[in-house]
Amino acid sequence: MNTNLLHQSPADLATPLLAVFAADTATGGNAPATPTLLTTSAPLLAAASPWLASGEFKATLGETFLLPVPAGLKAQRLLLVGVGKAGKLSPHELRKAAGAAVRFARPRELRELALTFPEHPSLPVPLTTRALAEGAIVADFDIDFYRADRKDLSLQRLTLLAPTQLGEEMRTALHEAVILAESQNFARTLINEPGNILTPTELGRRTAAMAEEFGLSCEIHSTEKLQELKMGAFLGVARGSAEPPALLVLRYEPPTAPGADAPVIGLVGKGITFDSGGISIKPAENMDKMKYDMAGAASMIAAMRAIAQLKPGVRVLAVVCSCENMPGGKAYKPGDVLTAMSGKTIEIINTDAEGRLVLADGLHYAQTLGATHLLNAATLTGAIGTALGQVNAGLFSNDDATAQRFLDALSITGEKFWRMPCTDDYRDQIKSQIADIMNTGGSRFAGATTAAMFLKEFVGDSPLIPWIHLDIASTTWLDDQKPWQSKGPSGIAIRTIVEWVRGYAGQAA
Ligand code: BES
Ligand code: MN
Ligand code: ZN
Repeated sequence: MNTNLLHQSPADLATPLLAVFAADTATGGNAPATPTLLTTSAPLLAAASPWLASGEFKATLGETFLLPVPAGLKAQRLLLVGVGKAGKLSPHELRKAAGAAVRFARPRELRELALTFPEHPSLPVPLTTRALAEGAIVADFDIDFYRADRKDLSLQRLTLLAPTQLGEEMRTALHEAVILAESQNFARTLINEPGNILTPTELGRRTAAMAEEFGLSCEIHSTEKLQELKMGAFLGVARGSAEPPALLVLRYEPPTAPGADAPVIGLVGKGITFDSGGISIKPAENMDKMKYDMAGAASMIAAMRAIAQLKPGVRVLAVVCSCENMPGGKAYKPGDVLTAMSGKTIEIINTDAEGRLVLADGLHYAQTLGATHLLNAATLTGAIGTALGQVNAGLFSNDDATAQRFLDALSITGEKFWRMPCTDDYRDQIKSQIADIMNTGGSRFAGATTAAMFLKEFVGDSPLIPWIHLDIASTTWLDDQKPWQSKGPSGIAIRTIVEWVRGYAGQAA
């Protein structure tokens, strides 16, 4: 998608589709909707006013209403797009509304869209610019890659029509939005791929191609290197499949070398390209979904893709542990004891708790590579969905200040994460009789937290390595489409991870 920014009156733009945003300014519980355009453009207000008064369009969030032949405008079509209640307005509603405009255009094969920049005191210009462009690009994605009758409906041109002179801030915001949203869509494409096509080896190939394109260093290893590093936990999981595992390492070096004491951010991703459950096999229902069990890995690869282009002044490395979890003849079994790279021994209770095993070695390895701060993302537990549904993803951390930095970044990205407990009170649940720890909790209680407690065992505590674990199991795949987003892979976490990483630029550890 080609994006551009114009300082021009929306009425004077010749375009197949001009969109203007409208908020409901009615106050009070049962007051009828009062849709009000978020623009001062007189010709737009004149063209829309009879339709705003008609009551057919209520300006609810994501609602669209096409005006027939807009008088006094050069545009061929005028689309009203609702943003919801004016009192609750933020750039995040505009993110969704811009997406809804794109998803209106796509099925109608309209390839160009112009957005009238919304004017409202609760919409700061740079953040709103970013939200509009991100929302539009994220909306420009569908999952039907393997249909013979697939039509490429993608938008060719997106124009933002600014009411004021264009500041440098606005151009930067647009530039960053394109990088971030395209990286998010890059991850979604990977997550959407079927397991037979996106094997660990293929994930490695695509990562290498991305790294080459954006100038990141990239290493791809397999079984031999895992053996050399003594990654017994990761190897244990990989053993049940005929597909070889892939250990990927990406490195980003800032343009100006940071001091020796500067932080090194380590991003670690769970890359299970298919999770059958292994010997503790899953039920058939919904097992097909387990192709997306590599979403954490895709998030890290995509975050690195964005970081390589945004070039923050901080060192970042990413470690991706990718394999299949299968019940082959050599598969690991309940009752087995594995020795992780860190030396800790793990009693396997359930082979379906495989994500934490590959991450245990990934987290340890990232520290040996010099990471001073760690963040991992994983589709780790069904239990996080029981707790938080498909709305919030779970955040666990061993350090309040580090967790808070991530939560603060959410106000920029509009994503939703909820902090969950990860304190030593829960440690007893993973104690083993015969080894250092077990790979699942002794009871079904607090399943997402016991998984986090397991990971924490592999993060340094003296000195403390600040660490964040994101459990995105229930938010990485949307079961129902939204007016602003296709069903399928959401690409959650990437934009916030990048924002969090950028916060360490220029800092001492
Ligand atoms: N990949 C699954 C978690 C998952 C479940 C992701 C649903 C997306 C949707 C993970 O490997 C798993 O199987 N977890 C088990 C852990 C249990 C055996 C302790 C789970 O959540 O049931
Ligand atoms: Mn599993
Ligand atoms: Zn899994």
